[in-house]
Amino acid sequence: MATWSAPGKVFLFGEHAVVYGRPGLAMAIQHRVSVTVRKKRSPGRVKSPYINECLGAMGVRATVYVRSQLPSSSGLGSSAAVTVATLAAINDEFGKGLTREEVAQKGYEIERKVQKGRASATDTYVSSFGGVVLIRGTEKKRLPPMNLPLVVGNSRVSHNTSLMVEKVGRERERHPGIVNPILDAIGAVTQEALLQLHDPRVLGMLMNTNHALLDALGVGHPALTRLVLAARAAGAFGAKITGAGGGGCMIALAPSRAKGSVAGAIRTCDAQAIMTTLDTEGARKEKDG
Ligand code: PMV
Repeated sequence: MATWSAPGKVFLFGEHAVVYGRPGLAMAIQHRVSVTVRKKRSPGRVKSPYINECLGAMGVRATVYVRSQLPSSSGLGSSAAVTVATLAAINDEFGKGLTREEVAQKGYEIERKVQKGRASATDTYVSSFGGVVLIRGTEKKRLPPMNLPLVVGNSRVSHNTSLMVEKVGRERERHPGIVNPILDAIGAVTQEALLQLHDPRVLGMLMNTNHALLDALGVGHPALTRLVLAARAAGAFGAKITGAGGGGCMIALAPSRAKGSVAGAIRTCDAQAIMTTLDTEGARKEKDG
């Protein structure tokens, strides 16, 4: 029996624009998915397409138990975390000898297959390695760890990443003169954020700008706008949609003293508030049981 866990993630800056080669900044969070794998001779009942693909790709039969602190279909990377933790646990239980890099790559291939070609390598990479990761094209660079206390607000409006990515793609074809400058502006915000990672006030302001640009791209949702405004009014430095939008989650960067009131303001809007911060470990082995 082997148990491994892997973290979820948030996009700090640059979602959607990252699909078109602009820089994006994602961060692993402390909320995780934990997976136990036990060898088994006969095939069991399939629990999820991701787990099924992991078993197939590794060529094994096993019983798989999942425990998750991440809400699913909300943009916090729960499917990538399940995939990475399952692959890492299979790797351990069956002595397959894959490196972390190989687990991340296999995880990406599985996500792409299950999501019919619509997955970026961001989620599986961040979940495997942890930390803050700069993504630009196919390049991924881990940045030095930093203390970014976040409050995540889950609107509980389920969202579909591929549909939102498609929507932006369609708008870009229809109105390139409008959409491309918005993507450029998001890229410029991310670029500036990279220079301001030490200053939460400036980062908050940049998050607000990024949020407005995501709204302009058409990936906003009234429930997310409500949470973003509530978080700012409760003392956050800034707040924005995180991930594909159209539902799912927002994040607020808040001074320590205001975290509780920001979480309270989010809950008042009938949303789930999750206080979290950076995870630097990525996939890790857990005690069995
Ligand atoms: O909704 P999420 O957390 O899967 O984030 C999607 C981020 C996009 O930039 C919209 C797409 C991508 O693959 O990077």
